[in-house]
Amino acid sequence: MTVHTPPARPLVDRYGRHISYLRISVTDRCDFRCVYCMAEDMTFLPKKDVLSFEEIETIASAFIARGVGKIRLTGGEPLVRRDIMDLVATLGARVGNGLDELTITTNGSQLRKHAQGLFDAGVRRLNVSLDTLDAERFRAITRRGRIEDVLAGIDAAQAVGLAIKVNMVAMRGVNDDEIEPMMAWAHGRGMGLTLIEGMPLGEVGIDRVDSYLPLRELHDTLARRYTLQKLDKRTGGPARYVHVAETGGVLGFITPMSHNFCESCNRVRLTATGQLFMCLGQDDQVNLRDVLRGGGPEALDAALDQAMLLKPKGHDFVLDRSRTEPAVARHMNVTGG
Ligand code: GTP
Ligand code: 5AD
Ligand code: SF4
Repeated sequence: MTVHTPPARPLVDRYGRHISYLRISVTDRCDFRCVYCMAEDMTFLPKKDVLSFEEIETIASAFIARGVGKIRLTGGEPLVRRDIMDLVATLGARVGNGLDELTITTNGSQLRKHAQGLFDAGVRRLNVSLDTLDAERFRAITRRGRIEDVLAGIDAAQAVGLAIKVNMVAMRGVNDDEIEPMMAWAHGRGMGLTLIEGMPLGEVGIDRVDSYLPLRELHDTLARRYTLQKLDKRTGGPARYVHVAETGGVLGFITPMSHNFCESCNRVRLTATGQLFMCLGQDDQVNLRDVLRGGGPEALDAALDQAMLLKPKGHDFVLDRSRTEPAVARHMNVTGG
């Protein structure tokens, strides 16, 4: 009997972009309430609607079979989902076996206890969100977090050999005075620092217009004080990187507001309840939970083809005083950043 190997059918959208990166939000819940991400009072998704680990694995396998090589677990805060390390272990077993990389974006609060487990499961690189090094300011930004927990998490992760990139949402009048100190601190510890422009997703706790800090300008300001050398390095995400000669470290810029990187977009996002969003900044979606529960795993392939037809050309975030509503109603914790 001849074994028929189906031709690899990569996921390609209408604009010729290859989708190779799946971000999976495993929960929309979080132990923090960062002012740029959430409102003080949030209603979270009903637990009964959340995908089981088995369902997430089935969907992830469908993507891997279609050429997705990178999976990132996000939240909310991924490490607050119960038994999350079970999912990390199963997906981690696919690294080198269909997957090139399994990684995670975390707020670091639970990292201390999970660092070794993440490494053992095959994770090698983490992005940790941290917007300040000042304990009081940290509490104000996260509305409830303890910076000690995050710093202990970072220590533990580095001790087991996980590479860390720190994500800092740069906000005028909130933490812009800390950009250089954060860079010195991160680079001094052998970690990358990536600055992010705040995006207008959902009603939150800060004035987005007042706090908007265009990173292009910041780049030019830094370039007068430091020797910034443009790097070709790409991590599969939207950041552009420079090497800073004075610190010897890598600085990244994610500029959804001032520079549109959508033309090279390679990713889609699965929410905790199984909606597949084709763009962080648009509403186009396919309900993979209904597809899976209604038609079984075989039905997923056709749904992925349908999803490719829906992927929009890009986001069009606008920050403008006259616009009273955010560009996208759902909060970042639903789509996982
Ligand atoms: P690397 O693998 O390290 O390149 O990570 P990443 O930048 O893909 O992931 P991370 O979770 O650290 O995301 C950093 C920031 O980039 C978050 O604020 C995301 O919301 C933002 N981001 C990632 N992809 C997109 C995108 O397609 N569009 C927009 N507008 N923002 C994105
Ligand atoms: N705009 C930009 N970045 C955001 N994040 C959360 N909400 C927003 C927003 N509205 C960041 C977090 C984390 C990453 C996944 O997204 O700080 O680093
Ligand atoms: Fe939680 Fe991350 Fe949102 Fe902060 S940015 S509230 S840590 S999901």
